Amino acid sequence: MKLYVLNGPNLNMLGVREPDIYGRQTYGDLLSYIQQICQREQIEVECFQSNHEGELVDIIQSAYGKADGIVINPAAYTHTSVALLDALKAVALPAVEVHLSDVSERESFRQFSYPAMACLAQIKGLGFQGYEKAILLLKERLN
Ligand code: DQA
Repeated sequence: MKLYVLNGPNLNMLGVREPDIYGRQTYGDLLSYIQQICQREQIEVECFQSNHEGELVDIIQSAYGKADGIVINPAAYTHTSVALLDALKAVALPAVEVHLSDVSERESFRQFSYPAMACLAQIKGLGFQGYEKAILLLKERLN
């Protein structure tokens, strides 16, 4: 089983960016965490981060035929991007949306998600553990 884990804009700034909301751990720490979970679960994983919507679309498209499922934190594009929704629908791979923070408890503009319409689930407010939950959910779904 192979998963793609995608992180959207500004998630490369984890650790520096609004630590009261996103914590002090860095994007590198997140990558190590995901690698460790996937190693434990015997899942092959490729992680990507981009600040560019089109590049995220390209990565989702490239998952077709290569990955069995997608974990995606679309970050700010969650709330704006029909293109990411369409890309997820196009490849039709099982996908789970993750947010580090609890978007439902934040500004009203964060409470709507386009990509969620093409995802099995949206996991929010669990920090790094949300990625573990998403990986396990996909594993269960794919087995
Ligand atoms: C986020 C929540 C989004 O609203 C925000 O734009 C982000 C991060 C999260 O992980 O909590 O960049 O996706």
